[in-house]
Amino acid sequence: MVFFIGISMLSCKNKTTVKPAETNTTLTEYYTEPFRPQYHFSPEEKWMNDPNGMVYKDGVYHLFYQYYPDDIVWGPMHWGHAVSKNLVHWKHKPIALFPDRLGYIFSGSTVVDYNNTSGFGTVENPPLVAIFTYHLAEGEKTGKNDFQTQGIAYSLDNGDTWVKYEGNPVIGNKDIRDFRDPKVIWHEPSKHWVLTLVAGNHAKFYTSENLKEWDLMSEFGADKGAHGGVWECPDLFPIKVSGSDEEKWVLLISINPGAPNGGSGTQYFIGDFDGTKFETSQQETKWIDWGTDNYAGVTYSNAPNNERIFIGWMSNWNYAQKTPTLKWRSAMTLPRKFSLKKNNDDFTLYNYPVENVDKLKKVQLKKEIAIPSKGSDVISYENFNQAEIRFKTTSKDFKLSFMNESDEVLVMGALAAKQKFFIDRQKSGVIDFQDGFGNLQQMPIPNLPNAPYEVRILMDKSSVEIFINEGQYVMTAQLFPIKSYTRLKIENLGVDALLLSDFEVSKVKGIW
Ligand code: FRU
Repeated sequence: MVFFIGISMLSCKNKTTVKPAETNTTLTEYYTEPFRPQYHFSPEEKWMNDPNGMVYKDGVYHLFYQYYPDDIVWGPMHWGHAVSKNLVHWKHKPIALFPDRLGYIFSGSTVVDYNNTSGFGTVENPPLVAIFTYHLAEGEKTGKNDFQTQGIAYSLDNGDTWVKYEGNPVIGNKDIRDFRDPKVIWHEPSKHWVLTLVAGNHAKFYTSENLKEWDLMSEFGADKGAHGGVWECPDLFPIKVSGSDEEKWVLLISINPGAPNGGSGTQYFIGDFDGTKFETSQQETKWIDWGTDNYAGVTYSNAPNNERIFIGWMSNWNYAQKTPTLKWRSAMTLPRKFSLKKNNDDFTLYNYPVENVDKLKKVQLKKEIAIPSKGSDVISYENFNQAEIRFKTTSKDFKLSFMNESDEVLVMGALAAKQKFFIDRQKSGVIDFQDGFGNLQQMPIPNLPNAPYEVRILMDKSSVEIFINEGQYVMTAQLFPIKSYTRLKIENLGVDALLLSDFEVSKVKGIW
């Protein structure tokens, strides 16, 4: 994003409090405000952006996040904190990291330092080490370019309390204006830590033995991929090609603006990494998600079974600060598992909700649907806005319109002639807070199989996530309908009969 100067860092220092969730759970109105997501993570109140420091330790998934506890717009950044045992139910924790004399606490990552390489803990009680960007607002105002540096902090009590390292910053900066969002991994073959950060239009890779002293090893990307805006929030990790032993490396890069449907989005590169250098032969720009509202997402460190679990921020800098919620702003995507598929030497990173999301489901309606060419069918259901709609089809020519009693309609569908899937939120609900919010969103779907493939739609009050063919093609978008959608019109745009098999509508239980 373009940062706001003029907000004093000192104005926020030490004056923030957040109530842990347990103090609120008895209140019946808890998490029931208009547009409040029921099964996605959102902060109890105030402003949230990127997920940060996602790490798994001792049976607990930690989610930290960019947080401004004093307002529902972006401001001096803290790290908010929540924990979960199943990635679905979350418990809020007190703020983990506060701004200090070196600046606001911008995005970053957390690792478990099992070998106590940092010396902050012991091998018996390994520290959690957070690596983040310091953003010094006063420095930005001077017009110099040295105001973003990298700092570290550690916790010996599983993230409840944090101590900032007295030697901060661990990576200084003289002249790079956008220099941020460090993501750290342990590279086992080289037995060192690798830190990836972004510097304007490229990524930089550093290595370290102890998380405190870092050496710059290489750079990537000034001449690769999409460059419609600044690179942000990188992530670098290995992943096995599904059904084989081949291992590739994935580099995620968020970019703002410059996403395929405007504003913020996340591209990825598939390549190789030898411990110091990332290389790829990829030519085409690839996107994790083609919808407007999945940004700054990264994956869990240390997740069980080497799984790659991704969470993104379900918003877009084009309008993130203007969406029509009052008490809080924005939510995270559902946690999604990555898998890498290879087809004729071309790689695609699939992302699909983690299995625990299925446990929230209660099937309410199940049927087989057949609609003649140019025909339509209408399904009624009390609340599509807290539901999953799922079916299988071979058709690439259909339209789905979710409608409510206020004449609002969210439209989506596949267009065979254009080989595209689209979302149209022009009439979906409140859209007037930002010009262009209703613009048509499109996603190319050139490689869908001819065999039946799955369409899975998860709607939650003010968002929709669409997973096509189990995560081959994905779109995520916010929407703000005044009332719940209660009718779904299914139209067959094709010349053959439209067959939807295993068509299911399920209620998705709330998590709060
Ligand atoms: C991405 C981002 C990051 C930065 C943070 C500041 O949304 O701009 O690059 O660290 O948000 O809140």
